[in-house]
Amino acid sequence: MKRLEGVSLALGVGGGIAAYKAVELMRRLIDEGATVTPILTANSLNFVGLTTFRALGSNEPITSLFNGDSPIPHTKIGQGVDAVVVAPATADILSKFAVGSCDDALSTILVSTDAKVILAAAMHKEMWAHPAVVENVATIRRRGFVVIDPEHGILAGGDVGFGRLAATEVVIDSVVAEVGSKDLAGKSVVVTIGGTREAIDPVRFIGNRSSGKQGFAIVSALLDRGASVVAVSTVELQVESPRLEVVRVESALEMDGATRRSCEDADALIMCAAVADYRVETPWNSKFKRGSGNVPELKLVENPDILAGVVSESKKFSRKFITVGFAAETDDVEKNGRLKIAKKGCDILVVNDVSKEETRFGSADNEVVILFADGSSRFVPLAPKRAIAIEVVNALAERL
Ligand code: CTP
Repeated sequence: MKRLEGVSLALGVGGGIAAYKAVELMRRLIDEGATVTPILTANSLNFVGLTTFRALGSNEPITSLFNGDSPIPHTKIGQGVDAVVVAPATADILSKFAVGSCDDALSTILVSTDAKVILAAAMHKEMWAHPAVVENVATIRRRGFVVIDPEHGILAGGDVGFGRLAATEVVIDSVVAEVGSKDLAGKSVVVTIGGTREAIDPVRFIGNRSSGKQGFAIVSALLDRGASVVAVSTVELQVESPRLEVVRVESALEMDGATRRSCEDADALIMCAAVADYRVETPWNSKFKRGSGNVPELKLVENPDILAGVVSESKKFSRKFITVGFAAETDDVEKNGRLKIAKKGCDILVVNDVSKEETRFGSADNEVVILFADGSSRFVPLAPKRAIAIEVVNALAERL
C-alpha cells in the first residue's frame, strides 16, 4: 500500500542551496501516492528550474499569486490540500511564518490554510543558531506546526555544522506521520525489541549483537499508520508517542512474562527481539571474583520459546490475532525459514540472511524474505531498515 495514497500536498520551495533536493522529495512524495502542487518562491528559481517542477509535479507550479488562472490561488490551494510541506524552509520563510507575513505566494498560502504545515529547515549554521531564528522556530512549534531540524554536515561553501536539509526519508516520514493513511487505527500491536541479557552475576551477562534498529523502525511504521503499540524492549526507544507504551525488560524470562501479558489485549505480536535460547541456571548473587582458584562453569538451561508460547495461547482468543516472527539464518535461508514458520506456528516469518556483510546484526540495511503460513512469500531487496519495516507492516495490515 502507498503511504500517501489520496493525499494532496503543496510543496513550498525556499531560496536556499538545498532547493535542488526538493525535486527528489517531490518525486518521492508522488511515488508514495501523493498529489503535489509545487509552490516556488522567486529566490528558489535562482537554484532550481521551473521546467523541472513543471515536468515532475502533479500540477502546474505556482510562482506568484497574480500570474495564473485563478484570482485567489492562495485560498484555493490552502483549502484543497491536506498539508503544506516546505523544503527547504529558509530563515526568511520561518521568520515570515512566525509573524504571519504574506508577501508572496508561499507565505500567503501558509497563512491561508488550516491544513497541516511541515517545515524542513535548512540554512547556514550561524543562521540556524541565531536567536531570532531560534525564537521563530519555538513560536511556530508552540502553535502546533512541525519544524524538522536540519542535520549536521557539510554546508554551502564547505563549512560544517547544523544546517543541512534533513534526509528525504525523514521529511517523507514526517509527512506520513501527519497526513498518511491511518488504516491501523484502533489496532494494538505488541513489538519485542533488542537482544535479551541473561545474567551471570550482578555485573555480567550473556548477550547478543541485536541493535534494536529494526524494531524501532517497525514501531515508527506502526505508529504512522495509527496503531497503538506496546514495545517490550531491552533497549531504550528513540520514539515517543501517546500511542506507545514501553515495557523495559532484560532477560528472556522477563520478556516472556511481559509479552504474554501485553498480548492479552492486542491484535498482533511482532517478535523482533533476539531472544537468548539459553540462560544461566543459577546466576551468582554477588560479583564473581577472579583468583579464587576455580574457573566458573556456567550451567545453561533452555529459555521458553516466547513466540511459540504466544501462538499456542492465541488459539484460545476469540478475536483474530496475527503473529509475526523474525529469523536470522546463515544458509538455506528460505528452506530453513519454511521449517521455522511451521515449527513456530506463526502467520508471518521475516527471514534475513545474516551471513552477508550488508545485512549482519547492527547494520543500517536489511534484505528479507517475508514468508506467509499459506505458503506464499515476498522478497524485499536490500533497503534501509525503515523500508523493510514498512513492508513488514504492510504484510501484517493485509492479514489483520
Ligand atoms: N524466539 C522466541 N523465543 C526464543 C527464541 C526465539 O520467541 N526463546 C523468536 C524470535 O524473536 C524470532 C523467532 O522466534 O521471532 C525465531 O528466532 P530464532 O532465534 O531464529 O529461532 P530459534 O527457534 O531460536 O531457532 P534457531 O535454532 O535457528 O536459533
